[in-house]
Amino acid sequence: AQIQWFPGHMAKARKEVQARLKQVDVVLEIVDARVPESSRNPMMNQIVGQKPRIMVLNKQDLADPAKTKLWLDHFRAGGDEAIAIDAQHAKRLNQLPALAKQLMAAKIAKQKARGIRNPAIRAICIGIPNVGKSTVLNRLVHKNIAVTGNRPGVTKNQQWLAVDDTFQVLDTPGILWPKFEDELIGQKLALTGAIADAVFQEDTVGMFGLATFRRLYPEQFRVAYGLNATDMALSDSDLMVHLSQKNGFGADYNRMAERIIFDARQGKLGRYTLEVPADFEADDDDAR
Ligand code: G4P
Repeated sequence: AQIQWFPGHMAKARKEVQARLKQVDVVLEIVDARVPESSRNPMMNQIVGQKPRIMVLNKQDLADPAKTKLWLDHFRAGGDEAIAIDAQHAKRLNQLPALAKQLMAAKIAKQKARGIRNPAIRAICIGIPNVGKSTVLNRLVHKNIAVTGNRPGVTKNQQWLAVDDTFQVLDTPGILWPKFEDELIGQKLALTGAIADAVFQEDTVGMFGLATFRRLYPEQFRVAYGLNATDMALSDSDLMVHLSQKNGFGADYNRMAERIIFDARQGKLGRYTLEVPADFEADDDDAR
């Protein structure tokens, strides 16, 4: 679903999320494991403030495992908990409540000391559109709840859903806007499918995909499209022409660009991650 973000909407989304944060103990920040930094809201750290946070790297089934490990270490070094999951297949998702309880151990101990027998931890899922917030939520509560109000600015009566006896999650995820003002980030989000097709040029994103894949994952790219070493020595634009002809699209390079985007989103080019923590070292705002 596409969401049009305007300054008014952003301010409203931020206020909504901040109001709901007051009701929770821990934040589950959901990101796409293929673009763990680019799929974050630009103001997330300010919005979350000092709340305990678990970075949830979702769609790990599509991501490069070695790079996922780098990101988990990076987020942990920044003072957050972090976990990589595949919400579609519920893989490792059952570790989330335990992780949250671990994070809240001191508070739980305090409440128990005050005589509260089974103190419940309350959490909320937050993230930009399409990172898998609804999927995570549904899997956590083992239900298929229609995540209505899955739009910023659409308020509804919120409910706490029980994950287990002592862990509850808000039934409405917090939706924030992506970092679409940065062109490189915008292209990464378009290639992975985090932002809708209407807001980018497919020829640009397809070419970005071609250039990025052959740089980061040349062998995966070569095999996926049945290329040889001579093809791989072509310039990016010559390779686009070659691929277009090879796939029967002739001079219609847009169709080849579309194909590359489709293949990247479907995982047909293998597992990949488009960024590592070191890419962001210059403007690192993760330290809290
Ligand atoms: P949102 O609430 O954050 O907007 O995201 P949502 O849960 O709707 O998920 C967005 C898309 O990502 C969905 O696909 C969903 O199935 C997919 N997805 C969520 N988690 C994972 C995961 O861990 N791995 C993979 N591979 N995909 C995941 P869709 O194409 O929009 O819908 P559908 O194909 O599921 O019908």
